[in-house]
Amino acid sequence: MVMGRQETILVTGGAGFIGTHTVVQLLDEGFIVWIIDNLHNAVEEAVQRVRELVGPQLSQNLHFCLGDIRNKDDLEKLFSQTKFDAVVHFAGLKAVGESVAHPFRYFDNNLIGSITLYSVMEKYNCKKLVFSSSATVYGQPEKIPCVEDFQLKAMNPYGRTKLVLEEIARDIQKADPEWRIILLRYFNPVGAHPSGKLGEDPIGIPNNLMPYIQQVAVGRLPELNVYGYDYPTPDGTAIRDYIHVMDLADGHVVALHKLLKQDNIGCVAYNLGTGEGTSVLEMVAAFEKASGKKIPIKLCPRRAGDATAVYASTQKAEKELGWKAKNGIDEMCRDQWKWGSQNPWGYQSQP
Ligand code: NAD
Ligand code: UD1
Repeated sequence: MVMGRQETILVTGGAGFIGTHTVVQLLDEGFIVWIIDNLHNAVEEAVQRVRELVGPQLSQNLHFCLGDIRNKDDLEKLFSQTKFDAVVHFAGLKAVGESVAHPFRYFDNNLIGSITLYSVMEKYNCKKLVFSSSATVYGQPEKIPCVEDFQLKAMNPYGRTKLVLEEIARDIQKADPEWRIILLRYFNPVGAHPSGKLGEDPIGIPNNLMPYIQQVAVGRLPELNVYGYDYPTPDGTAIRDYIHVMDLADGHVVALHKLLKQDNIGCVAYNLGTGEGTSVLEMVAAFEKASGKKIPIKLCPRRAGDATAVYASTQKAEKELGWKAKNGIDEMCRDQWKWGSQNPWGYQSQP
C-alpha cells in the first residue's frame, strides 16, 4: 500500500464486475474513491463486499452514490461538492445480443451517458479520463495479434457505441489539449478476486463463456453449448485472449498513475490482454482441472458474428504503461471457481 497519495477518483459503474475489482485496487493504492452507479446491472452488496475486503480504515475512503450518468443533476451534485482528479468510466451496457435487439438502449445509455458525463467533467475542469473500451472495436480482425493502430470496425450496436466513444474522446482531446484520455481495450475479462468475495454476477442466462461454464459447474445449467467446432484452429473451436480481472484492474491503476503524472498523454489507446490465445475446449479443460467438476458440452453451430481467433498485441501497454498480465488461464479458472463455488447464486444468498 502506498500511503499519502490522496487523489480523489470518480468511478462510474464502480459497483459492476470490473468496477468493483478496480475499486479494491484503487483503495489499496491510497486513492479516495467515489462510485456512481444506477445498479442497473449490479447490487449494493457488491460495494459492501469491497468494504469488507479493504477493511474499516480504507473503507472510509470509499463513497457510493446511487445515480445515473445520463442524469446531469446526479453528476452536478457530485462534481459541485467534490473535486475529482480523474474519472474511470466503466458505466454502460455491454450485452451484444441485447444491443442488436434494442439499439436505442445502447445509444441512450452508452452514448448519451458518456457525453453527459464528459460535459460535466469539462464544466468542473476535471479533464483526466480512463475509458472502458473493448476488443470489439477490432471487429473480425484480418490479422492477429490485434495492434492498437489497426483500422477499427463495429460489428453491432454495442461495438458501435465503443467505436464512436473512442472517436468522441479523440475529438474532445483535440479541441482542448488539457484533456488527458486513456482508452483501455479489454480483451475477454474473466476470473474473480482471489478471496472469492467478488466476481461476475450476470442477470439471467450468461452470454459469455466463463460465467456460463461456472453455472454449469455449480449445477445451475445442464451443459455448455460450444458454438462452432469447425473453425480453422487446432481443435476446431474459437480462440480468444482471456484476461484475469485482477490484471485488468491493475491496468487501470497504472493508467491512472500515468494520467495523473504525465502531461503529454493526448488521447491514447492500449490493449489489455495477455497476448495468449485459448480455445473454448482448452478453457473447458482448464476449468475442469481447477474445479474437479466435469463440464458436459454440446457441440453446436457457430454463433453469428463470432470471429475465429482474436488476441492482443501487448507490446504497447508493456512499453508505455509498464503493465503486463501476470495470471494465466489456470489462475483465471482457480479464482473463477473460488467465487462460483462460494457464491453459486452470485451476490444473492438464494435464487
Ligand atoms: P457491468 O455491467 O458489471 O458494470 C457496469 C456497471 O455500470 C454496472 O454496475 C451498471 O449498474 C452500471 N451502469 C450502467 N449504466 C449506468 C448508468 N447510466 N449510470 C450509472 N451506472 C450505470 O460490466 P463490466 O463487465 O464491469 O464492464 C464495465 C465496462 O467495461 C463497460 O463499459 C463494458 O462495456 C466494458 N467492457 C466489458 C467487457 C467484459 O467482458 N466484461 C469487455 C470489454 C469492455
Ligand atoms: C463477447 C462480445 C464482445 C465483448 C466480449 C467481452 C459477442 C459476439 N462479442 O466476446 O463484444 O467485448 O464478449 O468479453 O458477444 N462460447 C461458447 N459457448 C457459450 C458462450 C461462448 O462456445 O455459451 C464461445 C464463443 O463462441 C466464443 C468464446 O466462447 O468463441 C468466447 O465467447 P464470449 O465469452 O461470449 O466472448 P466473445 O464472443 O469473445
